[in-house]
Amino acid sequence: EKGTYSHFMLKEIDEQPIVMRKIIEAYQNENHELVVADDIRAAMRSCDRIYIIAAGTSYHAGLVGKNLIEKLAGIPVEVHVSSEFSYNMPLLSEKPLFIFISQSGETADSRTVLVKVKEMGYPALTVTNVPGSTLSREADYTLPLHAGPEIAVASTKAYTAQIAVLAILAVDTAHAKGLEVNFDLMQELAIVANAMEALTGQKEELEELTRNYLATTRNAFFIGRSLDYYVSMEGALKLKEISYIQAEGFAGGELKHGTIALIEKDTPVIALATQENVNYSIRGNVQEVVARGANAMIISMRGLEQDDDAFVLPKVHELLTPLVTVIPLQIIAYYAALHRGCDVDKPRNLAKSVTVE
Ligand code: M6R
Repeated sequence: EKGTYSHFMLKEIDEQPIVMRKIIEAYQNENHELVVADDIRAAMRSCDRIYIIAAGTSYHAGLVGKNLIEKLAGIPVEVHVSSEFSYNMPLLSEKPLFIFISQSGETADSRTVLVKVKEMGYPALTVTNVPGSTLSREADYTLPLHAGPEIAVASTKAYTAQIAVLAILAVDTAHAKGLEVNFDLMQELAIVANAMEALTGQKEELEELTRNYLATTRNAFFIGRSLDYYVSMEGALKLKEISYIQAEGFAGGELKHGTIALIEKDTPVIALATQENVNYSIRGNVQEVVARGANAMIISMRGLEQDDDAFVLPKVHELLTPLVTVIPLQIIAYYAALHRGCDVDKPRNLAKSVTVE
């Protein structure tokens, strides 16, 4: 039920801090140790490479997951769009583990891959919001998201839940392998939950930014480097699917390899600057687009901010920034769609679960 909310999407955006806290509770015991099923732990320990298979927003969460698993657990990870994987299968390693990420657990493109992988005899884990769904039943293991039903077609709380659960899986595997993790993940996720709560309270400011940058435009660009690149793709997907503004998210370094040709007077560019090691270079990209007339907005993180930044996010652990960076992008997409009179929860041509290939 929507309760006092005008749209499920807004309600689901606001639920993200609650979901974060649910995940923290669900995945630790009373001694504050991470709890991941023994068989999943064993599968993570015995594989030599992980193949993440997903579509849309879940694919974007998978990209962040790759970063977390490689950095923390030291296992190589490839992330594949499920529809492509079927006919473009890469050479597999000796002991692969497949991780399917799917909010609904019903995405046909992903299921086709799962069926194939099971025929080949490989182990599969599904990370889903719907335990008991097709992808959950047909895989060997399931990790639940605990996000509660997601009704709006645009995925919001499932994305952040997917990243949080993948972070838990990464740290748990690191612990199991005796690798050092120099931060307390659950504490950091609690900080994330508080940051999310603060951000959901800043809607007026974000609505104002939406008016200033996206009111009449037909297109928009999102740029970022490193983890911010992955979030920029998710920001663009959110904006295009519900507001019908043509949007593209790309790596800051790729600008000069083509896309900059599209920048003209007043083209909106939303730049993400939450990563210290690329802060200087992404700001360089912003200067390049501004020099060509772009209407650029920088969303940065406390500690890395500069005077003219349009929006500053509360500081969170640098591996977990996507969990907070995405919130203003979700809210901006929501207002852009609302201002244009679009059907926010049920955008044209789209279904909540895509059960056809
Ligand atoms: O249920 P799934 O996570 O498998 O769905 C995958 C995509 O269809 C889904 O994320 C889609 O991209 C969303 N509408 C994006 O907001």
